[in-house]
Amino acid sequence: MADELKLLFSADDIRASVADLAGRISADYEGRDLILVAVLNGAALLAADLVRALAIPVTLEFLRAASYGQSTQSTGVVQIRKDVETPVTGRDVLIVEDIVDTGLTAQFLLDHLSAGQPRSIEVCTLLDKPSRRQIPLSPKYVGLEVGDVFVVGYGMDYNQRYRQLPGIFALEFRGLGAGG
Ligand code: XMP
Ligand code: MG
Repeated sequence: MADELKLLFSADDIRASVADLAGRISADYEGRDLILVAVLNGAALLAADLVRALAIPVTLEFLRAASYGQSTQSTGVVQIRKDVETPVTGRDVLIVEDIVDTGLTAQFLLDHLSAGQPRSIEVCTLLDKPSRRQIPLSPKYVGLEVGDVFVVGYGMDYNQRYRQLPGIFALEFRGLGAGG
């Protein structure tokens, strides 16, 4: 049987949330020197929409982090597969994530980028799953909150599927060893 998708946020919901995030970020970083560091692959779509909604100039950078473990679970053991190429020293860094779950990846990236001595560093995430947090980490900019569900769409995947969906859906796994 196919996996079941349940709509959590429509494309319109996401647009409104991204506009709200962009408004807050534009106000807070006006006159500053902002580098957005989008975490590949999940946050690529958010980054593309966010930069176009900002009212301030920004440097756009990408970073790829791989965490070891099951495909739906973070282990906190993170490897940087592709790092930022612009020096962050003395600049304002905003990490852009699709979702913060346990918080382990975001914390690793905060530590990693802080080593470059930025002037400031914060986290922006479209989705926050606070009920699953394993460490005290509160992203400064949160778009939408979700419960303890696995989500896909708008850049987020399950085994590379569903990234292209314009909305965000809860994925309910079906047919595991049940004949389909
Ligand atoms: P942690 O647990 O380290 O997770 O905060 C961060 C990364 O795990 C992925 N993640 C998800 N990906 N649907 C996804 O498609 C989810 O519900 C989900 N929860 C966590 C994601 O890559 C995130 O950057
Ligand atoms: Mg991610």
